[in-house]
Order: sequence, then structure tokens, then C-alpha cells
Amino acid sequence: MRAPHSPDLRELTGLPLPVFVAPSAQAVALALAQQLVDVVGSAQAEGRAPRIGLATGRTPQALYRVFARRVADEGVDLSTLLTFHLDEYLDLPREHPASFRAQMHERLYRHIEHPAVRAHFPVECDQRDDLDAACARYEALLAGAGALDWQLLGIGLNGHVAFNEPGAAADSRTRVVTLSESTRLANSGDFESLEAVPRRAATMGIATIRAARRLRIVALGPSKAGIVHELIHARVGPDLPATLLRDHAGCELWCDAAAASEL
Ligand code: GLP
Repeated sequence: MRAPHSPDLRELTGLPLPVFVAPSAQAVALALAQQLVDVVGSAQAEGRAPRIGLATGRTPQALYRVFARRVADEGVDLSTLLTFHLDEYLDLPREHPASFRAQMHERLYRHIEHPAVRAHFPVECDQRDDLDAACARYEALLAGAGALDWQLLGIGLNGHVAFNEPGAAADSRTRVVTLSESTRLANSGDFESLEAVPRRAATMGIATIRAARRLRIVALGPSKAGIVHELIHARVGPDLPATLLRDHAGCELWCDAAAASEL
């Protein structure tokens, strides 16, 4: 994978996982968009479909904008791309604009003409029945596809990854979870009120996420500085689920200067 070319990109060494710090969120987006383009190209050169894991939330939005622009400008071939999502809300009407499927369509897929049949989510947001079976099917789908080439992750203010809230086990798999109040509050900007934020979601588990070849945890802005410090320095354990990814051989943390300010 080509090294990121921003001269201002710094790698911090001596920490429990590789940490890359770029001067701005846009610089992080440019570097990770390059990785995405490279990962897609390498898989295709091997004659197989690229398998990418994607995340929602505010953090990846600049990356999706940069990636979509590169796809349009350079004619990047995404015809065989398969995408897999970390999580999806439950108990929302199918057409709700805050469902992760709707958010991804709006922020990325409509710009790169990625068809819904090749974008996979653990459940649909209005699904009510057989949720455990749907989660088991998602695990089987991922296992059948083969390890994801590259998995993007944000980090919640309480250290959650995907919707693995504090207490999530290292061996957890795709399942239905209850969202913490801090996560509901953090995501309430996408809804008409806090009351309207779902209380349940389906999420890949920690073990599911760890099956990917490369993990890219991204943290941007001053609000993430404290949790980034904890991710690096806290004891590994379920109290801070993101720490359960720290010893993954392909895991890197990518920050802008503000998010790295307490390191
Ligand atoms: C959410 C999502 C995560 C996301 C995290 C951080 O609730 N389920 O996948 O990474 O919170 O979100 P943000 O990037 O908006 O800070």
C-alpha cells in the first residue's frame, strides 16, 4: 500500500499501535482515500472482488467526499466492489433518513453509483422478526466472503466501536444491542429529538471486526482527544471496547492534530 504523501503526516512510535497524525481532517481523508483506491486496485489485480468495511457517523464524511471525487475524476473501477457495514439501527421506518443505509446512500453510494445489492448491512432498520437469525446470516455472509481487506472505524466518546458499547466481550459477534444514553445523545443530531433516537441496533462484534486484515480507527476534532488518550493508555478490556482492537496486527489509529493533542 503506497505510503501517504502528505509531508506533514507524522507517525508516532513507541505506542501500543501505530498512530498517524495529520494536520487536518482533510489531510486524513486524502491519505485514507488513497488507501481505499489502492485496496480496490490490489484486489482487482488479484482477480477478485474488493471487500471493504465501512462506518457511518460524522468522522468518515470527508473521506467519502474525497473518495467519491477521485472515483469520478479518475474513473476508478468499482464494478466488483463489495461493502459491509458495521451496524444499523433498529426500530426505524424503512425510509427514515437517519438509518445507516439511508445515510450511506446520501453520503457515498449515490455519488459512486454503488448498488444497494452490493452494500451489506447486518439488518434492515425496520426489521422486527428473526433478528438473531439475521445476525447469524450476516456472520455467515462475512465468513463466506473472506476476510475484509480494509475496515474503517470511528470511535465513540465512551470508547465504543461500531455499536459495541462498554462491556462488549472480545469474542462478541454480530448481535442486537441496547444503545447507551451517551451514544443516543451523541447521535441525536440526526433525529428530530433525543426521544426519536433508536434504543436498539445490530452491530458486528469485536471478534467480527478483528477478522478484517486491516483496521483503520479514525478520530477527528478536539472532542475525541480524551478518548484517543484513553485508547492508547488505558488497560485493554471491555470497559473501553476500542482497546480490544489495539493488538490487531493490521490496526492503525489515524487522527487530526486536535484529536491527537493529548498524546
Ligand atoms: C456511532 C457509530 C459508530 C461511529 C461512532 C462515532 O454511534 N455506530 O460506527 O464510529 O458512533 O461517531 P462519529 O464519527 O459521529 O463521532
